[in-house]
Amino acid sequence: MNAGLAVFLQLEGQPCLVVGGGQVAARKVERLLEAAARVTVVAPQLCPELAEHSHIQHRAECFQPAHLESVRLVVAATSDAAVNRAVSVAAQARGLPVNVVDSPELCTFTLPAVVTRAPIQIAIGTGGAAPLLARTLRTRIETWLPAGYSLLAALLARYRGQVSERITDPDKRRRFWEQVLDGSIAELAVSGQEQAAAQQLEAMLQHREPMRGEVYLVGGGPGDPDLLSFRALRLMQRAEVVIHDRLVAPALLNLVRRDAERIHVGKQQGCHTIPQAEINQLMIKLAGQGRRVLRLKGGDPFIFGRGGEEIADLAAHHIPFQVVPGITAASGCACYAGIPLTHRDYAHTCIFVTGHIKDDTLNLNWQTLVQPLQTLAVYMGVGAAQILTTGLLKHGMDPTTPAAVIEHGTTPRQRVYTAPLQQLPELVKTHDIKPPSLFIIGKVVTLRSQLAWRD
Ligand SMILES: C[S@@+](CC[C@H](N)C(=O)[O-])C[C@H]1O[C@@H](n2cnc3c(N)ncnc32)[C@H](O)[C@@H]1O
Repeated sequence: MNAGLAVFLQLEGQPCLVVGGGQVAARKVERLLEAAARVTVVAPQLCPELAEHSHIQHRAECFQPAHLESVRLVVAATSDAAVNRAVSVAAQARGLPVNVVDSPELCTFTLPAVVTRAPIQIAIGTGGAAPLLARTLRTRIETWLPAGYSLLAALLARYRGQVSERITDPDKRRRFWEQVLDGSIAELAVSGQEQAAAQQLEAMLQHREPMRGEVYLVGGGPGDPDLLSFRALRLMQRAEVVIHDRLVAPALLNLVRRDAERIHVGKQQGCHTIPQAEINQLMIKLAGQGRRVLRLKGGDPFIFGRGGEEIADLAAHHIPFQVVPGITAASGCACYAGIPLTHRDYAHTCIFVTGHIKDDTLNLNWQTLVQPLQTLAVYMGVGAAQILTTGLLKHGMDPTTPAAVIEHGTTPRQRVYTAPLQQLPELVKTHDIKPPSLFIIGKVVTLRSQLAWRD
């Protein structure tokens, strides 16, 4: 079957006829009303959905060819095949475009599945061969296409006239729009920062400034690539250069644009391959060259990730940046280990705490950590298991408090072990636990015996 010619029909204020008063007809009526058509429904009876509609005209009659008088487009959506056929025959005899639901052989046009980011519309047709496939594709595009494309389209519409006036050479104009769409202006608009996008566009139009670089500080989550946010994935696909550290799982790096330059700044506990200040300088330098820089971090960039320091430096150098939150290790590991971090009966508070040792000690507020109905999620605790346990016990925590160790949480290498707190250091040693690992300490750990859905 030929797929036909894809067109967008202008139906604003145009009289259209829908024959049928059921649910299927109601969906077609909605589509026509979205296109601002004037809709008449011919059906002896209407389903409640249509009956409540104030924007349609209803003729409580059986279909007659006379109903086609002055009509621009026809849809037949009754459950009676003979009526549907009669509508098709009469409409075609008058040269009117007609669609008959679920009968491609009676149609002169089909209604595509549509993804809308007004005024943008993406129409998907299968020539009537596989409507379900069209719907599946629509769902995929829905999840992939950010809602902010509406804002981008509005911005382009707003400046279209001005740009045409100022840049009269069509080639130069095309290049100008390509730069807008390919750079920070489009990115700002899509992420909802319309004013900043408009300011940059105006500046570019007035001074024809070269494109500015920008930095995306993105939280890649604890390891499972399925836990990335849509925005994270989009920016990973846009960046020209990626700066990442050891914690970022290879499965995540595989999702970065293939031709992007990769710079490994291999931060590892106790051995910082590149000092933080140099990483900051590197980002500033690359963005200063006009490049789109992805700073990809494990987990969430603002939770034990030094993301705040990095963007403070960017802000001081007037480098545009965006921050994308990621699922932090505590959330990811707890979910995948079947340990709710809070629970009505076991924990009303959850504290995220670092086990990073400085000068051979753990500088923590122990009193705050040893409280009833509380969960502790300990990051970077592997090297500090003994000091941490001793500190908690010394400050009154019950030695039998349940504890869990989750290594490589959310990844195929995930391992989970549980033991009473007093045995935590031994547990780490016996199983040769290595970073990245997270400790969860508190009564919620007991729930794992019922909720461990990944094991
Ligand atoms: C420097 S912190 C970074 C935390 C990160 N920004 C976050 O929000 O998850 C590194 C620590 O996070 C924890 N971590 C990160 N990913 C993990 C994973 N997949 N499994 C277990 N722990 C993880 C470990 O405690 C690790 O030592």
